[in-house]
Amino acid sequence: IEPFVTIHHFDMPQELENRYGGWLSPHMQEDYVYFAKLCFEKFGDRVKNWMTINEPNVFTQFAYMRGTFPPRRCSLPFGNCSAGNSDVEPLIAAHNMLIAHAKAVKLYRDHFQPKQGGIVGLTANAFHYEPYTNDDFSYQAVERSYAFNIHWIFDPLIFGNYPALMRKYLGKDLPKFSKEEVELLKGSVDFIGINHYSTFYAIDCLNSNDCTSEDNRSIKGFAGRAIARNGIPIGDEMGVFGFRIVPYGMEKLLNRLSLRYPNTNIYITENGYCPPNYQEGTELLQDFTRIKFHQTYLAAMSKAMRSELNILFDIIK
Ligand SMILES: *[C@@H]1O[C@H](CO)[C@@H](O)[C@H](O)[C@H]1NC(C)=O
Ligand SMILES: *[C@@H]1O[C@H](CO)[C@@H](O)[C@H](O)[C@H]1NC(C)=O
Repeated sequence: IEPFVTIHHFDMPQELENRYGGWLSPHMQEDYVYFAKLCFEKFGDRVKNWMTINEPNVFTQFAYMRGTFPPRRCSLPFGNCSAGNSDVEPLIAAHNMLIAHAKAVKLYRDHFQPKQGGIVGLTANAFHYEPYTNDDFSYQAVERSYAFNIHWIFDPLIFGNYPALMRKYLGKDLPKFSKEEVELLKGSVDFIGINHYSTFYAIDCLNSNDCTSEDNRSIKGFAGRAIARNGIPIGDEMGVFGFRIVPYGMEKLLNRLSLRYPNTNIYITENGYCPPNYQEGTELLQDFTRIKFHQTYLAAMSKAMRSELNILFDIIK
């Protein structure tokens, strides 16, 4: 077992929240880099795989859109917090996280990597999305779901800018990177980490009435999600968050990512199964479903790794 160490995983000193509002402030970039430097200095002789920040896409959603994680900021219709703005604050917080990441990576590459010889990357949560209906609108909703949830985080780290779809639909709500920040961000990962569990149907909100008012907003890319189509679930149930077992989602996700980010190392940094409450007795003790989950998801990953043809097939389709 080779450990990958995450420097910042959702935990925030209250003092920095009080002083300047934590990740909503650019000040947080410098304090994050200070903390990262300390970690490189103290542990870099042993830690060879660094992840700078865990799941900025999930953290900002729960901390600044839904308001269920500290600092519990949000606005209606996402939640009823005492302060916050769910439509823009997740974008601001993620913006500061991405720049903080790039600054820490520059520091690592300039001062630690040459003698410590490790690698550094960032992990985001990534579901796969399938079209909810068989028409162009649903396929566009898939693209927007990818852009607003996944490329949001990885495009800046690889290309130095947010995806075009986000710039189009968010307009001036989306923060901009300065010229220097673009240069700093571009190529600022030795690998991207993928936390992958499940697949959802992506619903187009702009041309249908199938969405909630929450999903039909620019911050959500005007895309909703569902776990069933025509009453048929996308896969067997897991015990949390409406996750479903969809092994082919792993394969399709990896094909898409290797197509968009060629020559980028990809690690699966999280994946796993959680049994629904009704499982009991032999099923639970023998872990049949979990074994099958890992078997099928690993097989799907292996298929994506082995076959360039899959990628071509995805393009043609
Ligand atoms: C939001 O919370 C406040 C304070 O608890 C309450 O007065 C108000 O009715 C709530 N609004 C909604 C829409 O739930
Ligand atoms: C979804 O939002 C768009 C843009 O704000 C609006 O034009 C449309 O009417 C909304 N759709 C529904 C079903 O509310």
